[in-house]
Amino acid sequence: MADTHHGTAFPEGFLWGGATAANQCEGGWNEGGKGISAADVFAFRDPNNATSGADIHANCDVTDADIDEALAADDDTRYPKRRGADFYHRYAEDIALYAEMGFKVYRMSIAWSRIFPRGDEQEPCEEGLAFYERVFDECAKHGIEPLVTMSHYEPPLAFCREYNGWYDRRSIDFFCRYVDVITRRYAGKVKYWLTFNEVDSILRHPFMTGGLIESRWTPEEFPAVVRQAMHHQFVASARATKICHENIPGSKVGCMLTKVTFYPYTCKADDVLAAQRRMRETYCYGDVQVFGAYPHYLLNDYKNRGVEIHQEPGDAQVMRENPVDFVSFSYYMSSCAAGEAKGLEVTEANTTTGVKNPYLPSSEWGWQIDPVGLRVSLIDLYDRYRKPLFIVENGIGVREEPDDEGRIHDDYRIDYLSAHLAEAKKAILEDGVELMGYTSWAPIDLVSNSTNQMSKRYGFVYVDADDHCQGTYDRLRKDSFWWYQKVIATNGADLSAE
Ligand code: BG6
Repeated sequence: MADTHHGTAFPEGFLWGGATAANQCEGGWNEGGKGISAADVFAFRDPNNATSGADIHANCDVTDADIDEALAADDDTRYPKRRGADFYHRYAEDIALYAEMGFKVYRMSIAWSRIFPRGDEQEPCEEGLAFYERVFDECAKHGIEPLVTMSHYEPPLAFCREYNGWYDRRSIDFFCRYVDVITRRYAGKVKYWLTFNEVDSILRHPFMTGGLIESRWTPEEFPAVVRQAMHHQFVASARATKICHENIPGSKVGCMLTKVTFYPYTCKADDVLAAQRRMRETYCYGDVQVFGAYPHYLLNDYKNRGVEIHQEPGDAQVMRENPVDFVSFSYYMSSCAAGEAKGLEVTEANTTTGVKNPYLPSSEWGWQIDPVGLRVSLIDLYDRYRKPLFIVENGIGVREEPDDEGRIHDDYRIDYLSAHLAEAKKAILEDGVELMGYTSWAPIDLVSNSTNQMSKRYGFVYVDADDHCQGTYDRLRKDSFWWYQKVIATNGADLSAE
């Protein structure tokens, strides 16, 4: 996809950068007073079996027996998110690399379990707070603005096991205490915040997102359990937005959605309807957080499923009064939906599956590559919400190793990213979309969320570590490092590979 606006820059002040999450890049899982989080108990599984939809679920959702096994394990190499990319020890080096590329913004998350190790304490852990203070100071030293996700797939394990995570109403107060502490502490250092990463993901992986150990309920009970937990997250997100605005005047708080754009498989009306219904599964979350109320179609869906959720007096008001300031989303691929999917090829999408689009190529993990779909998504979201948008994840996972000269020529990554950025530029210039910024996933190799593989690499920077946490963890610049440096230096006017 050519950059038909070559030479024209993105809007002034556009926030260029990269995005990571604590649970996948930080490591130091049992250092600095940190409690164990949900992510620390995901065991590595053979990658050859870990690329099907069913296995992805197995990587993100655990039973009590799995947790017991994880807690008893003295061999951390089976639990790669415990080690991440070792950001905990190398944050200064990593931020310097981001600065070298010219980052204006760095999206990262705070691990809740570093601040409140169990989730339910009255007092925070000072060592955890001090760690992120050092990280933010390092960003400031390089003129990089942090964009902080308050919760990115890392609820404290005690909160999950002893309270059933977000199913328990007390979760709201625990989370808000955490938000109050971090927004007070980092008031002068962090202006941009996101509440829940991919808030829509709770239905797809209830443990990772909602701290729900599904095997504790019957299949008949669980639909209501997960939707009750979702309600608590919605209320918590609205209260967190309020707290953030009060503690940091001028701060901007966004919601974060997984944008898997679904096309109708054909122009048959049944396929169009199927696509529309799949899209609603994402939009309902944005609708709640932007419009401040449950959309009627979601409540109707609950009614049809026989699901009743308990709402307390005041919930509707806090949601109504505290909509988000901007809408952020991850975009990696599009997918198709069909009225009758039987016999059609199904492919992987981001922790979900969809009907394969015959016109699109796919990554090694079956994620369909569709730059124009990003433009479609931007238009869709902007038309629906009329709020500034922020692409906070976009990238391609690839298996790669340095060649004999120690270089990684990742022209495929440059192709992928430049094609997506060219479409984002068209959305701004031709379609009138308001886009605040772009943070690629991920500027540095880190542990894959869905498959727990280090070998699913996204970075501009290579990390010398394998799926079994073996390696020096040394950093190495790939060719895309210098490409992205040029993109940022020209404010996106030059996206070319040269
Ligand atoms: C997003 C998540 O869904 O996709 C990230 O917010 C994740 O945490 C990213 O890493 C890419 O997915 P994966 O499974 O390839 O790591």
